[in-house]
Amino acid sequence: MKIGFLQFKPVLCKPDENIDKIREIILNCKTDHDLLVLPELANSGYLFSSRDEAISASEIIPGGKFCRALSEISKEKNSYIISGICEKAGDRLYNSAVMVSPNGETETYRKTHLFFDEKIWFTAGDTGLNVFEISGNFGKVKVGMMICFDWIFPESARTLALKGAQIIAHPSNLVLSYCQQAMFTRAVENRVFTVTANRTGTEINGDKELYFTGKSVIVDTKGNYLCTAGEDNECILTAEIDPEDALDKNVTSKNNIFEDRRTEFYR
Ligand code: ACM
Repeated sequence: MKIGFLQFKPVLCKPDENIDKIREIILNCKTDHDLLVLPELANSGYLFSSRDEAISASEIIPGGKFCRALSEISKEKNSYIISGICEKAGDRLYNSAVMVSPNGETETYRKTHLFFDEKIWFTAGDTGLNVFEISGNFGKVKVGMMICFDWIFPESARTLALKGAQIIAHPSNLVLSYCQQAMFTRAVENRVFTVTANRTGTEINGDKELYFTGKSVIVDTKGNYLCTAGEDNECILTAEIDPEDALDKNVTSKNNIFEDRRTEFYR
């Protein structure tokens, strides 16, 4: 199975430009994928200065332009695509991820753990952490979604793994420096594949400025880094994996990471 990420620099509050860039990069990519992961808030950018600004770059799922464009690209490339998206739902905004499939289905995850000023613009997610089965020539594989800062809560990845996720797709806009290294632990402690699709570049809005750390990573169930992107380049990187590796939760012949849990001591 071929999994990958698209690392790029979204333009703040320019969803049409972002769609065009994503379409161009993916359609020009010579490598085929079964699953491709894009960064957090890939339609809108990140550093809003007002709620109105965030609303202006948001859209409904699945009927909005960005979702429909992703769906078309998914069909054309015969690849599942997971992307971060600024979602409007009634009078609420969510920092969400969508998974679109080549046959036109859409699944949504709304970010559980909001980071810093996201708490001003967004409502905390109400979907919970869920796992979705995807299928194709590669067989049937269970995929979970979490978004950026969700990583710092080990419960996020653990919940997805306990629900059967073999691959954790992790759209991100990372501003702190340690997630990419920490994903080693998330992958190993759950024996899952992780795909952290980060963005690049600096966003400036009024007197606010944020630098995003790039270096998107794919980590396998044993903690090997299969792909690491540069800090500032826009690229698609791809790894060939056997998702069945994630079904084996035995660390030694006497240790199974799920069966050995002592949940009576965890509260
Ligand atoms: C983050 O959660 N975007 C840092």
